[in-house]
Amino acid sequence: MSKIDTRLNVSPVPPDEIFALNGAYAVDPHPQKVSLGVGVYRTDDGKPWPLPTVQKAEKELVVDDDLFRHEYTAIEGDVPFLGIARDLMFGFEGKQGENEAKARIGSVQTVAGTGANHLGALFLAHHMKPPTVWLSNPSWANHQTIWELAGVPRKTYPYYHAATRSFDFEGMMSSLESEAQEGDVVLLHACAHNPTGLDPNKEQWVAIADLCERKKLFPFFDSAYQGFASGSVEEDAWAVRYFFNNKPDMEMCVAQSFSKNFGLYGQRVGAFHYCTNRASTTIRDIVVNNLCHLIRGEFSMGPRVGCSIVKKVLTSEELTADWHQDLQVMSSRIKAMRKALYSELVRLQTPGTWEHIIQQNGMFSYTGLSPKQVYALKDKYHIYLLKSGRASISGLSQKNVAYVAQAIDDVIRNEN
Ligand code: LMR
Repeated sequence: MSKIDTRLNVSPVPPDEIFALNGAYAVDPHPQKVSLGVGVYRTDDGKPWPLPTVQKAEKELVVDDDLFRHEYTAIEGDVPFLGIARDLMFGFEGKQGENEAKARIGSVQTVAGTGANHLGALFLAHHMKPPTVWLSNPSWANHQTIWELAGVPRKTYPYYHAATRSFDFEGMMSSLESEAQEGDVVLLHACAHNPTGLDPNKEQWVAIADLCERKKLFPFFDSAYQGFASGSVEEDAWAVRYFFNNKPDMEMCVAQSFSKNFGLYGQRVGAFHYCTNRASTTIRDIVVNNLCHLIRGEFSMGPRVGCSIVKKVLTSEELTADWHQDLQVMSSRIKAMRKALYSELVRLQTPGTWEHIIQQNGMFSYTGLSPKQVYALKDKYHIYLLKSGRASISGLSQKNVAYVAQAIDDVIRNEN
C-alpha cells in the first residue's frame, strides 16, 4: 500500500459489516432488493414502524412541552428514567421490601446498548482488570470491537453446533469449566442471541449461573431485545432476573437497550446497571460516581429525547398496556415470517433441513448459508445478509418471502 501522508500511525480497518451492507442496500436501484442485514423491525411493506404507542407518547410530550426541553440532565442521566429502566429489567413492581434489592443496583444512562456495553467494558477494565473476557462464538461482531477498545484480552467459548444447527451447551460449559479463570468476564446475551437466535433454556441458564458462581466469573449481560423476542418482558428478562435474585453474592452487570423494543434506533436510549453483592447504598453510590467519571470524560451525559418517550410510556398504565400490544405485533410478525420462509423452502424441496428457521428466536436466523451462497444472493438476487449467513427475519414480508425462498433454493443447489 502507498504511504499515507499523515502524522498519524493509521492503516485502514475493515468497515463495519452490518452498516456497510445497509449502505450498499440503500443505493441499490434493483426493484426487488431485500434487506436482511441490519437488525431493524420492518412492516410487511418493508417500511420502518414507528410504534403507535411511541407516537402517542410523542404527541403528549409535545402538548406538555416536555419533548423540546433541551436542558442538561445529570451526568448519570435522567434519574426517573433510570429507575424505570431498572424496574423493567429486574422486575420491580413498587412493592414493599424491594428497596434492599434496589440498593444493590447502580444505574446510569448510556448511548443505547452499544454505549452500555462500551461503558461497562471500560469500567470493568479500569476497576476490575479482568484477565479475559469470554465471548460466545459467534457473537455480535461489535462485542469484539468494544472489548478490544477497552484493552481486555478476548477469548471465545463454543456456542453454536454447526452440524445440528443448535446451541452447543456442552461445549460452552466444558470450555468455561476448564479454561476460564477467577475474575474473568463472561458475556451473555439475555435473550434472542445475536446472531444465532439460539438461547439456553431455563435449566441451562441455572447451570450457567451455578458455574459462574462456583468459578467466580463475572456475568455481563447484553439485553437488547427485552419484550421484542417473545412478546413478554418477563420472559425475555428471565435469565437476568434469575442471576440477580438467586445469586446475590455474585456481582454482575447488564447493558440495556431500548432500540428494538421501542423502535427508537436512532435516539440511542440505554442504561448500564451494575449489581453489587450487598445492599449497600454507599458502595452503589461509589460505583455510580466512578461510572459518572467515565461518562463525563467521554460524552458528559446521555441524550434526553428518547428516554423522555420511554419514561412517558412506562409511567402511564394505559400506554404501557399499548406498548405490550406493540411488542406482540412485532414478535408475532417475526414468528409468522419464520414460518412463511420455512414453508416455502419445504414446498420447493430445497435440499437440507430448515426446521432451525422456526426453532430460532428473535430478530435473526442463522441460516447455515455459506459465504459463497450469501455473495450469490447479493449478486444475483439483490438480497442482503451477513456473510455468516445471519438473516434479519424482519426484512421478510408476504410480498418478498417467495422470492427470497426461491433465491435460497437456487444458491443451495448451485453454489457449493
Ligand atoms: C444488528 O446486529 O444488526 C443490530 O444490533 C444493529 C447493530 O448495532 O449492529
